[in-house]
Amino acid sequence: MNNKMQIAIDGPAGAGKSTVAKLVAEKLSFLYIDTGAMYRALTYAALQRKVNLQDGNLLKELLDTIVIRLAHTQNGFQVFLNDEDVTEQIRSADVTSNVSLVSSHEPVRLEMVERQRQLAENGRTVLDGRDIGTYVLPDAEVKIFLTASVDERAKRRHEELLAKGIASDFDQLKKDIAHRDQLDSTRAFAPLKKASDAVEIDSTTLSIQDVVLAIIDIVKERAR
Ligand code: CDP
Ligand code: CDP
Repeated sequence: MNNKMQIAIDGPAGAGKSTVAKLVAEKLSFLYIDTGAMYRALTYAALQRKVNLQDGNLLKELLDTIVIRLAHTQNGFQVFLNDEDVTEQIRSADVTSNVSLVSSHEPVRLEMVERQRQLAENGRTVLDGRDIGTYVLPDAEVKIFLTASVDERAKRRHEELLAKGIASDFDQLKKDIAHRDQLDSTRAFAPLKKASDAVEIDSTTLSIQDVVLAIIDIVKERAR
């Protein structure tokens, strides 16, 4: 396989991007970069410091002062904000309901995209997000657009929360996901959108393993 290969996995919330991206990266010994975690870490920092989330320039100033590190340790994938482990905190309901607003600002995205391109520059990488195939890595060798019905995605989130012992309201979850999809796909700058050369995989009725195998087949095909 080539020394440099970039795999871009985009799609809406709950489609299974991060789950399958991690497994694909593990199986192929690629580096996994969770770009959503970067936007979540900034959102967490902004909420902590009570920065006005409507103000893209203030958020960019904050971003310039923080280090966001994605690490793969024996404890799994971890996210650090400066030296603080924020892996759990960035998944909170407060961060989730504000992250699309924070990531809609152009100055924030330009800086994040710069960081993501640097991380992806060397070697073999899998990035998941919303704009990887369309904007961050337009020349990625493999582009996947992963989808699933809103019902299925809300069901997955519901079960994920239940497994952590958190009860949630299915209809509310569905509304929240649909609202985030709407914000992410209608923002002016680098919205969520399938790249014209991406392969679309609808995972509504597929298992995680099915999706991973389908992506690995595409990677092997491209590497020939
Ligand atoms: O895991 P989930 O789908 O809930 O979200 P995520 O991948 O952690 O991303 C959280 C949010 O960050 C998304 O809803 C987008 O608003 C934003 N995001 C983005 O704008 N661009 C990316 N490349 C990745 C995430
Ligand atoms: O990153 P994204 O928001 O696209 O989704 P995720 O956080 O990777 O996946 C959401 C949930 O769906 C996880 O609990 C996965 O285990 C589950 N999932 C599934 O049940 N079937 C799939 N084909 C893919 C993911």
